[in-house]
Amino acid sequence: MKSVYLAFRAAVLHFLDDPDNDLESPHLEYFPDGILLTHQGYIVELGAAEQMLASLPADCELIHYPDHLLIPGLIDTHIHYPQTDMIAAYGEQLLQWLETYTFPTERQFADKAHAREVAEFFLDELLRNGTTTALVFGTVHPASVEAFFEAAEARNLRMIAGKVLMDRHCPAYLQDTPETAYTDSKTLIEKWHGRGRLSYAVTPRFAPTSSREQLAKAGELLTEYPDVYLHTHVAENHAEVAWVADLFPESRSYLDVYQQYGLLRPRAVLAHCIHLDAEDRACMATTGTAAVFCPSSNLFIGSGLFDLHLTKEADVRVGLGTDVGGGNYFSLLRGINDAYKITQLLGKKLSAFQALYLATLGGAKALYLDDKIGNFAVGKEADFVVLNLKATPLLTRRLQHCQSLHDQLFAILMLGDDRLVTASYVMGKAAFKV
Ligand code: GUN
Ligand code: ZN
Repeated sequence: MKSVYLAFRAAVLHFLDDPDNDLESPHLEYFPDGILLTHQGYIVELGAAEQMLASLPADCELIHYPDHLLIPGLIDTHIHYPQTDMIAAYGEQLLQWLETYTFPTERQFADKAHAREVAEFFLDELLRNGTTTALVFGTVHPASVEAFFEAAEARNLRMIAGKVLMDRHCPAYLQDTPETAYTDSKTLIEKWHGRGRLSYAVTPRFAPTSSREQLAKAGELLTEYPDVYLHTHVAENHAEVAWVADLFPESRSYLDVYQQYGLLRPRAVLAHCIHLDAEDRACMATTGTAAVFCPSSNLFIGSGLFDLHLTKEADVRVGLGTDVGGGNYFSLLRGINDAYKITQLLGKKLSAFQALYLATLGGAKALYLDDKIGNFAVGKEADFVVLNLKATPLLTRRLQHCQSLHDQLFAILMLGDDRLVTASYVMGKAAFKV
């Protein structure tokens, strides 16, 4: 019989708290030769191999990854699974991009068999890229969420998803109503929220595609189900912001539309947050609402540059997202690479520690899941990624010239992508392996 204790030996890095840009931060733990011990999918112990080897449980299976770095599973706090087949679509900015590519693609998710096939591919792709948890948009069709949750449940993944609410300013074939938005979401919440590792997110697409009646229904759902998520977009693109000002003249700002309908609170997660002001950021902080930095999408659909520093200084929780298909890749390692370049363009800094924190424990905090995932604290779920530090000739060569842990990690992140991911483990089991 297979042992229920599994010990993974490699270099191990994780965060205990936010390291900010402190290169000497006490909030990280690094073992150049470490062991992560798991039992039935949970973390039991982390330490130096030298010490732990002597005291491993007798029936423990040891899995050794020399020249590899083990980190917590990456957390993508904003992504659209139905947009997998339109990733890398040419030439449009947000509003035209939605009309030209997104809406026709999402139409196909009325067909559950299609949705299931895309969901399987999408989850394979996440795991190939080291992402083990995500906050995921479905489409307006309840079947899209059924298919996604079924696929995620079969793999025992910790995932959050929801049916899109949109009852105006989109093609008739994609519209729901305030009533069906409410009843369909309620049915999905009752069936899926809190089932195994799955959670539900009430998901209005963005303010322009929901009537006031529908936003009020979203607020009603949140009142009835205090621990479900709220997932939407805000202040991504200038034309969108101007449109919202026209549609909701009674609101002080785009963010204020959501505040007026009672949508801002802990577990509310807003993608983009690019064109906000100080009052908006203060409102997000006081309500416990999280912002998602989507570097690839900021650049790919040309929306603007998220200011991580202003957002963090305002005490807003921040996660990292790919926003596929607005973003043109699944890899959060590539996302970190673009995040760094965006902060450079803003004349600020992003340390390797801060960047990897955002993709792990920071993401878990943004999702209020830091009691379950995000680092290797004892008792947490054993979701982790094994990165090959010799994945490419260039990485191998560059790492020979690094002096400090920060230099090494920075090189790994700036040169890294899916080629580095040797394995992704979900609750202590390999869900992807090269
Ligand atoms: N705003 C409203 N819908 C979308 C979407 O699908 N993607 C992005 N990036 N922004 C949106
Ligand atoms: Zn998005």
